[in-house]
Amino acid sequence: MTRTISAARVATLVGDFDRSPAYAGLADALVLLIGDGRITLDTRLPSERELTEALGVSRTTVTRAYAELRDAGYARARQGAGTFTRVPGGRARAHDRALLPRAGDSDAIDLNCAAPSAPPGIAAAYAAAVADLPAYLGGHGYFPAGLPELQRAIAATYDDRGLPTDPDQIMVTPGALAAASIIAQAFTGPGERVLVESPVYPNATDALRHGGARLAAYPVDPDGWDLAAAAAALRQTAPRMAYLIPDFQNPTGHLMTDAQREEYAGHLRRTHTTAIVDEAHQALPLEGQEMPRPFAAHAPDTITIGSASKAYWGGLRLGWIRAPKGMGDRLTRARVSLDLGAPVLEQLVLVRLLADPEILPVNRDRLRGHRDALVGAVREQLPDWSFHVPTGGLALWCRLPGSFGTAVAAEAEARGAIVAPGPVFAVEGGLDSFLRIPWGRPADELTAAVGRLAEAWSVVRERPSGRTPTGRVMVA
Ligand SMILES: Cc1ncc(COP(=O)(O)O)c(C=O)c1O
Repeated sequence: MTRTISAARVATLVGDFDRSPAYAGLADALVLLIGDGRITLDTRLPSERELTEALGVSRTTVTRAYAELRDAGYARARQGAGTFTRVPGGRARAHDRALLPRAGDSDAIDLNCAAPSAPPGIAAAYAAAVADLPAYLGGHGYFPAGLPELQRAIAATYDDRGLPTDPDQIMVTPGALAAASIIAQAFTGPGERVLVESPVYPNATDALRHGGARLAAYPVDPDGWDLAAAAAALRQTAPRMAYLIPDFQNPTGHLMTDAQREEYAGHLRRTHTTAIVDEAHQALPLEGQEMPRPFAAHAPDTITIGSASKAYWGGLRLGWIRAPKGMGDRLTRARVSLDLGAPVLEQLVLVRLLADPEILPVNRDRLRGHRDALVGAVREQLPDWSFHVPTGGLALWCRLPGSFGTAVAAEAEARGAIVAPGPVFAVEGGLDSFLRIPWGRPADELTAAVGRLAEAWSVVRERPSGRTPTGRVMVA
């Protein structure tokens, strides 16, 4: 079905565009709207006549604006069908060679990364932030703790969640993963023990290992956390720290209840273990539900990690640390051995995004649609795979009826669908009866990917001994 947008809607979206000259202002406004996703790709734009009337401009203005759009790669004319939106380089522009290193992969559906494309509004926030930038150009631009207004805005999000926070408890980092590295650098030494969940987000546990820590793991089952196992592991290993992801755990999607948080905090207290709590997915409840209190409200010495990647966009490369008072110097010393601060422009963008009440709800609605499409497709096409439906976050953790995860991932990759098999997330091996399928991509791509997974599954089911490892390790 052809997607269209009315002239009236375009007129509302472009608003009061720059008229010096009008065709260039209109073209610029449309580029921003298309790049930003507010006018979606492959959408038929209104005819020149309709848009001329809706905007009250001359026909030449619209004709020249559409010509500018085509020249810049943001529209293409289809013979007899009209003018359709596109972006330069097409959808493949989204991919990166480190995450998708193989020849031909640009045509593949990449579900290796549990990270969505940008929701509408990000490009507009960038454009607005550029106007804020000149005020900072007179300084050196290094902000190892973060831009003060961003520290304040992030601290306010914790206040809103019932965890009073001073801005100087916040350190802005180039992403949550960098935050984990800074914490590892600051607080773990060679041989120090850190308790982790298994399965777990592997890049973070690698970051902890690089700090010299020895990892001890306890299971997060398909049904949730095994807190008795966590307590036993704490007693046996008395670790310095414990890394956990209580909010839509990556990869299982579980959400730790307040009662579980309270119980876990008690176990940690008994062994004097500090929690490192990764809240990368915290802002993505998809059922409109109230979220449990932050883990740090149960265990005040917790060091919390946050991220802008999942709620807004991974390309911002912004995350943060919320540390108990008094830890700032130690974190800053560790941080300046790794970098000297996050980019100023992106921090200004995030200040604007955090102040915008619309972007996050719209993003959640969009991701709920993706999740439901994925759940429906897996139920229909892979009825012998089982999973629980996460109430938020970004991924479905599927259990296969046997140890076929790696084999199915390899077969699916040959068919152009890239997913991460269970062992990628296992701390000490195993978990090959699982696969993680993120729902970051649009519904049509998810359905197509599940079709390819179903083909892969039917091949593997017939020859369970022919397993071939993918060797792919990059997961986000
Ligand atoms: C639990 C968890 N922590 C951290 C990250 C990385 O976040 P960032 O992009 O902010 O570095 C991810 C990304 O998938 C994640 O799932």
